[in-house]
Amino acid sequence: MKMISQLLSILVLLSTAIHASPIASSIKDLNEAVHSLNFTHPKGELLPRYEDGAVVSTDIPTKVYNQFYRAANLTAVSYCADPPYFIDVYVGPTLNCALEFCTENSNDYSILKVFYPEVQVDLDDNNSYNITATGYVAVSEVNKELLIVYRGTLSITDALKDAELILEDYTPINGGNTACEDCKVHQGFMDLFKSTYDEIFPLVIQELQEHPDYSITVTGHSLGGALTNLALIELKLLGYNPLVISLAGPKIGNQELSDYVDELCGTEELDEKYQAGEIEELTEGFWRVIAKDDYVPLVPPGKVYTHAGLEFKLLDSSPLPQPIDKVVYTGKYVYSSVLEGFGWSLINIVDWLHVYEHLRYFYLQDTCLEQEVKKVFQS
Ligand SMILES: *[C@@H]1O[C@H](CO)[C@@H](O)[C@H](O)[C@H]1NC(C)=O
Ligand SMILES: *[C@@H]1O[C@H](CO)[C@@H](O)[C@H](O)[C@H]1NC(C)=O
Ligand SMILES: *[C@@H]1O[C@H](CO)[C@@H](O)[C@H](O)[C@H]1NC(C)=O
Ligand SMILES: *[C@@H]1O[C@H](CO)[C@@H](O)[C@H](O)[C@H]1NC(C)=O
Repeated sequence: MKMISQLLSILVLLSTAIHASPIASSIKDLNEAVHSLNFTHPKGELLPRYEDGAVVSTDIPTKVYNQFYRAANLTAVSYCADPPYFIDVYVGPTLNCALEFCTENSNDYSILKVFYPEVQVDLDDNNSYNITATGYVAVSEVNKELLIVYRGTLSITDALKDAELILEDYTPINGGNTACEDCKVHQGFMDLFKSTYDEIFPLVIQELQEHPDYSITVTGHSLGGALTNLALIELKLLGYNPLVISLAGPKIGNQELSDYVDELCGTEELDEKYQAGEIEELTEGFWRVIAKDDYVPLVPPGKVYTHAGLEFKLLDSSPLPQPIDKVVYTGKYVYSSVLEGFGWSLINIVDWLHVYEHLRYFYLQDTCLEQEVKKVFQS
């Protein structure tokens, strides 16, 4: 089970990179980060390739395609959030986005807040670690839309040692009398989600009160994708009807939790409508985009964890952005056994998880991270 901690530590690395202080460790971390950035293709030939799941339909509406592409642009922006990856002194959250997307759309979006809560968790008498989930809340007056974008976390590694053992009972924050019976959630994801709640939700609720005609969209990549699922539940319980797009998200909880989410957001009806060609553009519901050969959406491995929502799959990792004919609808989650019974400890985790594929969702997700690394080396 040590594997799972390694595996999720890579997720963490992807989701941001390195939290460095003091300086000595930042140099070491920096080297590791640069090394890990050097993903060349093809990687991960050690494992049998991910079997193609059943494709439900191939012609996806152009508007839906653009919604996924835009979500990927927004999550790539979240990787630009300060504090940057190699900072030693925390100066307060800002967003230094040098991506074309930010320049091109600077009039369309206003960032209301970059969140970066830090929570200390004590493992035992001698060990504690800090977890953080980063991201931003933005508003687009042009689209009449409020956005929550989750980036992921920094140092949750030790918390994720044994994914099944740390499944905890799930109680939504705004649960009231709508209990989620026998629902279990990954404790690390839940802790992270809770740590961001007060930074995001009061602000979002206030904004939606001021702009009752605005829609709300939630998105995130990798661990950020995991958090979108939990945000969806809270928003639904608060009476909102968000559109949630998760990119490359891992599984977060058991079947009961997935069923609860699907019930809340009408997954079954949305699936029928989508298949009947009645959805030209997504306005609500939980939609997951995964990539062929990206293994992160398959973790934690095993049957205990499942996915809610409806799935689309990118059939290729290159070139970027994937063209529309490389995006297919695969519908409701089907268990894939590809990660079972493999010699976990013998393999290079970065290769094994197919990091190359994991980062290539329409727009290279770690573009800002690469820029950051280069900046540090050039100075
Ligand atoms: C990246 O990979 C290339 C090709 O394997 C190698 O020449 C280069 O030194 C690597 N760069 C770093 C920073 O590790
Ligand atoms: C995503 O960003 C790229 C780069 O700025 C841009 O060319 C593309 O049109 C954007 N896509 C969407 C759907 O916003
Ligand atoms: C913490 O460290 C002390 C001293 O090294 C040791 O005696 C104790 O067993 C440790 N506690 C745990 C829970 O590992
Ligand atoms: C963890 O966060 C707390 C609260 O922000 C901070 O005081 C502490 O120094 C942090 N610990 C580490 C190891 O970064």
